[in-house]
Amino acid sequence: MERGANMVSTGHLLVLCMLLSVALAAITNSFVRENVIEESQVGVHWALIVAGSNGYYNYRHQADICHAYQILHSNGIPDERIVVMMYDDIAYSEENPTQGIIVNHINGSDVYRGVPKDYTQEDVTPENFLKILQGDEDGMKGIGSGKVIKSGPNDDVFVNFADHGAPGIVAFPSGELTASALNDAIQSMHDARKYKKMVFYVEACESGSMFSNLLPTNISVYATTAANGEESSYACYYDDFRDTYLGDVYSVMWMEDSDVADLSKETLTQQYQTVKQKTNTSHVMRFGDESMGTLPLIKFEGDGKSAIAKPLQEQKTVPLDAIPSPDVKLSILSKRWTKAPTEADRHKYHALIKQELKLREYIDTRMRQVVDFATKSTEQADRIMSVRHQLRDHDCYEPVMHHFSTTCFPLHKVEYALRQLYTLVNLCEENIPPSMTIEAIDVACLH
Ligand SMILES: *[C@@H]1O[C@H](CO)[C@@H](O)[C@H](O)[C@H]1NC(C)=O
Ligand SMILES: *[C@@H]1O[C@H](CO)[C@@H](O)[C@H](O)[C@H]1NC(C)=O
Ligand SMILES: *[C@@H]1O[C@H](CO)[C@@H](O)[C@H](O)[C@H]1NC(C)=O
Repeated sequence: MERGANMVSTGHLLVLCMLLSVALAAITNSFVRENVIEESQVGVHWALIVAGSNGYYNYRHQADICHAYQILHSNGIPDERIVVMMYDDIAYSEENPTQGIIVNHINGSDVYRGVPKDYTQEDVTPENFLKILQGDEDGMKGIGSGKVIKSGPNDDVFVNFADHGAPGIVAFPSGELTASALNDAIQSMHDARKYKKMVFYVEACESGSMFSNLLPTNISVYATTAANGEESSYACYYDDFRDTYLGDVYSVMWMEDSDVADLSKETLTQQYQTVKQKTNTSHVMRFGDESMGTLPLIKFEGDGKSAIAKPLQEQKTVPLDAIPSPDVKLSILSKRWTKAPTEADRHKYHALIKQELKLREYIDTRMRQVVDFATKSTEQADRIMSVRHQLRDHDCYEPVMHHFSTTCFPLHKVEYALRQLYTLVNLCEENIPPSMTIEAIDVACLH
């Protein structure tokens, strides 16, 4: 009996032990679960990448952005958190001899593979860009993939543009994004706690003017640009086989660095210094909170954890063959003209070159008229046509620039018109009232 009772109690003990260990396991599990939740509160990583041009002459901008996607993707950011805006008319352009393939380096590997087509064609607009950046899901309902940057206060955000630019704007296939609209959006994201840290990399002519005198240093935003506010950025890698430029200097410099660097060790400042040193054709700049420079690249160009696969290690050094972005179209035309196989082809390219030169002359003439009408002396007009004042007075400049675009030449369609906007900056910076310049624009372009 006693023995039996003992056995029973041993049995009870066993059951008790089992119960206890189950309970312990449950406690441990919930502890682990809580830690996982806590870890997810540490934040995730988002990216918005934008090619703001279209047309085969501008192959390089979409090539840059596809390459950027490959870097973000291979470093662990899932497609749900990468939003891509690009016109998507290059891979299957009839001018592309390698259909369905885009490269960003001479004899480089395909960077088009796998790129999400979130927003293409007419969905690539400045208005959509601003909504996507600010996480306006309702505003993007029914447009493209509808994906937006749904970031919260613990999340890091990376934004990369490759684009045509001019003082105070970057161009889109339809319309322009102004520096003040961009900086207002950044400020309201800060106020709504929509990021922990945010980084911008911007390739465009005069890209420094998007942040200079505008981006605060105390809102955890860090930006680098291909050029200062008064100069061109440069295209590179002319491909004789594809008859176009494959990349832009600043863009390929940061990306070819990221292709081989250990992104969990290299910092934003180290990359900035490398890119600045290698981009000797323009002044690579940085703005905003420079103290963020000590952060590792993986927080923005990856998922914040560890650098993984390096799919693009084609570091075969080839000549950069750099050229100011505004000269790209004429350069491509004249290279095609030189090697045209038939007299008819030569004739065609010659005519296109003449047409482009004539257009430029026409725009120059109109601009000179605007300046003559808006100024009081030939001396001042001459100066306005030649100096490069830094853009500070955005309130004067933006309405004048918009009026020029709607009255004289639509900036997103006539690339060369972007090259003349510095004169409108100069007029504002020399205190010519916007109403006078607007009147001068009407006189020069409406008659
Ligand atoms: C690119 O590939 C072509 C054809 O294979 C070759 O002739 C050329 O030398 C290569 N160029 C470079 C810079 O590697
Ligand atoms: C940043 O600095 C400006 C100017 O000193 C100040 O007005 C603003 O409140 C500051 N913002 C934050 C978030 O600290
Ligand atoms: C920039 O550097 C390259 C390669 O080092 C060199 O060939 C080129 O002449 C330099 N360009 C300028 C404008 O200094």
